[in-house]
Amino acid sequence: YRSIRVALLGAGSVGSQVARLLLEHRDELAQRIGARLELVGVAVRDVDARRDVELPRELLTTDAETLILGADVVIELMGGIEPARTLVLQAIGSGADVVTGNKALIAAHGPELFAAAEQVGAQLSYEAAVGGAIPIIRPLRDSLAGDRVERILGIVNGTTNFILDRMDTTGASLEDALATATELGYAEADPTADIGGYDAAQKAAILASLAFHTNVPIEDVHREGITQVSAEQVESARKAGYVVKLLAICERIADAASGEEGVSARVYPALVPRSHPLAAVHGANNAVFVEAAAAGPLMFYGAGAGGVQTASAVLGDLVAIARRHVIGGPGTAESTHAALPVLPIDRITTRY
Ligand code: HSE
Repeated sequence: YRSIRVALLGAGSVGSQVARLLLEHRDELAQRIGARLELVGVAVRDVDARRDVELPRELLTTDAETLILGADVVIELMGGIEPARTLVLQAIGSGADVVTGNKALIAAHGPELFAAAEQVGAQLSYEAAVGGAIPIIRPLRDSLAGDRVERILGIVNGTTNFILDRMDTTGASLEDALATATELGYAEADPTADIGGYDAAQKAAILASLAFHTNVPIEDVHREGITQVSAEQVESARKAGYVVKLLAICERIADAASGEEGVSARVYPALVPRSHPLAAVHGANNAVFVEAAAAGPLMFYGAGAGGVQTASAVLGDLVAIARRHVIGGPGTAESTHAALPVLPIDRITTRY
């Protein structure tokens, strides 16, 4: 097999899992792609601070710029705008394809980055930026590209869904539910981005831009967090047959004054009827409910956060890109050779 050189920027909870999976599954992935994914380095802020990460120390570097120069694919998982933006542009400029999980970067600078990638024919993939492990970017971009998406209702922040779910099921106050979320490691030390709705608003901007083939700047997303939601409101909603969920609502809508078609993207605590599939999304899970003209309603559900779960989405993007590098390789997911035997019914141990 030939090698595809992969540089990783960032070794936080997602980055370190991406590195681990890449190293552990290298043979299986090579077979699937027809090329070897070679992790050439991991850029971190401080090499000595990364002793907790089970990564070969010789892969670690603080010199992201040099690392990028020798890479075919750059995976950016640093988070934040800078230096991530500059490094992604440098990667594209040096001829690399890019995978990122950085929702803040895509929400704020998507058009600039997509234009840069388009100019040189580079790939820029970001499945991990919304909904953690849930495949939602590619379904919107590819599977539904021939349909007309009318509306998206998304539970796209795990921390706030955990908090609201806990308030609903135990009657806890917002403060107590937040304390539990912090204890369990869902909420960050500074949970402002979650409970303030900023994280969900970034994801709404990304989903709306993609679904409606337009650019929805983050500044145009109406945002209201959950900080004002009281135990009493959650209780009255429950009695009336509703559950309070922080929803990202993206829809095609007519301008009230002119009647012209436009789009709206907004995030706020909404009353969801108990009979709606979104009402059954518990704990820190995420779900994206898509209403498309021809397809009808679709729901994408799963783990919206978590290092290893989100790493799955990153690796999916990486494999898709790597396959395009391999002329005459497996190319697509439809295997033409039987790597694993199909077991007859009397030899299987689990049945439904
Ligand atoms: N803080 C985010 C959440 C992580 O709670 O969903 C994933 O973006």
